[in-house]
Amino acid sequence: MYEKIQHLSKELDSLTAATVQETEELRIKWLGKKGYITVLFDEFKTIAADQKRSLGQSLNTLKNAAQEKIQVLRHATVQETVATSADYTPPGDPQLFGARHPISIVRNEIIEIFTRIGYTLAEGPEIEDDWHVFSALNFPPEHPARDMQDTFFVRQSDNAVVLRTHTSSVQVRVMESQRPPIRVICPGRVFRNEAVSARAHCIFHQVEGLYIDENVSFADLKQAVLYFAREMFGKETKIRLRPSYFPFTEPSAEVDVSCNICGGRGCNICKYTGWLEIMGCGMVDTNVLEANDIDSKKYTGFAFGMGIERVAMLKWQVRDLRLYFENDVRFLAQFTAVV
Ligand code: PHE
Repeated sequence: MYEKIQHLSKELDSLTAATVQETEELRIKWLGKKGYITVLFDEFKTIAADQKRSLGQSLNTLKNAAQEKIQVLRHATVQETVATSADYTPPGDPQLFGARHPISIVRNEIIEIFTRIGYTLAEGPEIEDDWHVFSALNFPPEHPARDMQDTFFVRQSDNAVVLRTHTSSVQVRVMESQRPPIRVICPGRVFRNEAVSARAHCIFHQVEGLYIDENVSFADLKQAVLYFAREMFGKETKIRLRPSYFPFTEPSAEVDVSCNICGGRGCNICKYTGWLEIMGCGMVDTNVLEANDIDSKKYTGFAFGMGIERVAMLKWQVRDLRLYFENDVRFLAQFTAVV
């Protein structure tokens, strides 16, 4: 039996297989139910007890070597099969490139326009306290914007926690931590408790701006807004200011730009008025300056705020706001050409 084992281990060394099939045949021949090694183990049961120890050892060594050899052959033949069956001639799969979201494109454009004239960027938290969203901005306690109708409350109490309804809260944070001259723009996501429709959404994006210094006037505000409108909608754009009301500005105005689609002649985007509303603005109310420890006798300022979706809508004539939030690639892919 010892000779048989010796003989088989020599043979084992010289085994080769070209295919997976051949390897499988070798496995059956060596390790299968009637394979050489199984047969040897059967024979082993019948030999004298004093020989069992050393023979058992060599038999086990042979079995392990055979298993290892079959494994090596299997690995090599599988590799061979994969390599020879791969077809390298077909053209590659097209790579899909990501694109910026249209809201990001417009936000970046607005930021770029204002940073060119010295505004810096400020950001703040989306979950805010009552002070930063309302009280510091001169909202009286009973103001309807604080109502459940408009505001998402995280905690409703004397010290309410809310999802910010505008990024004016960031302007308050800037006034707390910086002294005039202040010139910032605050882009960000805001939340209002509104029924979702083509024209309104409970989430949208704003860019608000704040400029506080000595001798800042309403004429400066008009000029900044006109500059922005021309950069954003084209050199021929005109603006129109209509008196309005915000708790944090006095006087306040609503800004319209001449319709860039019909050139002011009237179309269904501007509802045949020739004008499109784009933002709210005004001179910072003295109460707001004082609430933030800024001397309202020495300093004046203006603020403005616009919805990014609204600007994007006017830029691309997208009529349904919901498209911006659905992330349908068929919609998003249309903006790939714009950097
Ligand atoms: N905060 C206002 C809004 O959310 C916009 C605004 C900002 C108006 C600054 C006037 C001045 O609608």
